[in-house]
Amino acid sequence: MTAPLTSPHATQHAPEPAYAISTRGLTKSYPGPEGTLTHAVRDLDLDVPQGETFAFLGPNGAGKSTTIALLCALARPTAGHATVAGADVLTQPHQVRQQVGMLFQHSAMDPDLTADQNLYIHARLYGLRRRHARRRATEVLEMVALTDRRSSPVRTLSGGMRRRLDIARGLLHAPRVLFLDEPTTGLDPYARAQVWEHLRALRDRYGSTLFVTTHYLEEAENCDRIAIIDRGRLVAQGAPAALKAAIGDDRVVLRTSDDATARRVVRRTAPSNCVITVDADGVCLRAPDGSTWIPRLCAALEGHGVAVHAASATAPTLDDVFFHHTGRSLQATQPARTSATTPIPRASTAEADGGP
Ligand SMILES: Nc1ncnc2c1ncn2[C@@H]1O[C@H](COP(=O)(O)OP(=O)(O)OP(=O)(O)O)[C@@H](O)[C@H]1O
Ligand SMILES: [Mg+2]
Repeated sequence: MTAPLTSPHATQHAPEPAYAISTRGLTKSYPGPEGTLTHAVRDLDLDVPQGETFAFLGPNGAGKSTTIALLCALARPTAGHATVAGADVLTQPHQVRQQVGMLFQHSAMDPDLTADQNLYIHARLYGLRRRHARRRATEVLEMVALTDRRSSPVRTLSGGMRRRLDIARGLLHAPRVLFLDEPTTGLDPYARAQVWEHLRALRDRYGSTLFVTTHYLEEAENCDRIAIIDRGRLVAQGAPAALKAAIGDDRVVLRTSDDATARRVVRRTAPSNCVITVDADGVCLRAPDGSTWIPRLCAALEGHGVAVHAASATAPTLDDVFFHHTGRSLQATQPARTSATTPIPRASTAEADGGP
């Protein structure tokens, strides 16, 4: 069964807005200590077309959750404006809240109630009539493949199941735009893969617009477009491939017998505008067409009596894009996680989430 994702609140023949989300100069500041201001979000200009899966990528404190709160009309901007599904967050907050679904960074479910009871209560809070609330609870449970756990208390569900239940809650009132604040943080790679499988199905089946915040580079990589945010400011926006192509430079790493001498030799041999650093990996150089430099650099190093133990050239990653725009590595700003670089496996069944 497929449940329609057209808003029951939407006007029947309302024209589709050009963008699902559009912001100009969106800013949110909080009073800080001693009369200072904390700029959680500054001057944000975003355009997210209908049906796009859009990743909002940034380190802790970058302003991701604040942006979602502004776009869901749960917080009022200090300056600027935004429209979501055609409604203005400042002048039409009620319409905005009717058009969006939201998955909070922290779950809003009562652990002692069953999955079904939680969904029914939330549907009633959204204003759905009793019978409609029951039907939607059944439909959204099926959408996230949790029908067989509908009578389980939430505390007995696995982490991945709970996150899928959170997604189901966000879908209850058939929103046109779904905001997901870190939908997979804390999940193991398998549960993350399942959550993403359900999100992709939503997009493919219903053309939903998904706005997803994440710390995970490999998740952002799989989205249609990405905005990178750092310290409240948008630093880059575009398709993952285009963002990587724009910085162009490959990362060449040389592991040598004498990195200090090697750095000086590389400095003289490589193009003068190349950035050269020494870190735990060895001497690192950023250059276009990195692999073509390796034979030349090795010959020069050999001429100075420096042995090269290993050499590699890799195309830019999203972390390189982040580094290029901020001078810092996104991965270096994250707390250690076991799954940070683990590839996301394909999930084969929806039931394999693990037991309670
Ligand atoms: N209610 C508030 N009052 C004061 N400062 C706030 C408030 N909410 C957020 N901030 C500040 O705004 C900045 C952005 O916070 P936000 O929660 O949006 O970041 P985030 O990107 O979601 O981070 P995380 O990845 O840790 O969830 C932080 O410096 C935070 O301390
Ligand atoms: Mg957050």
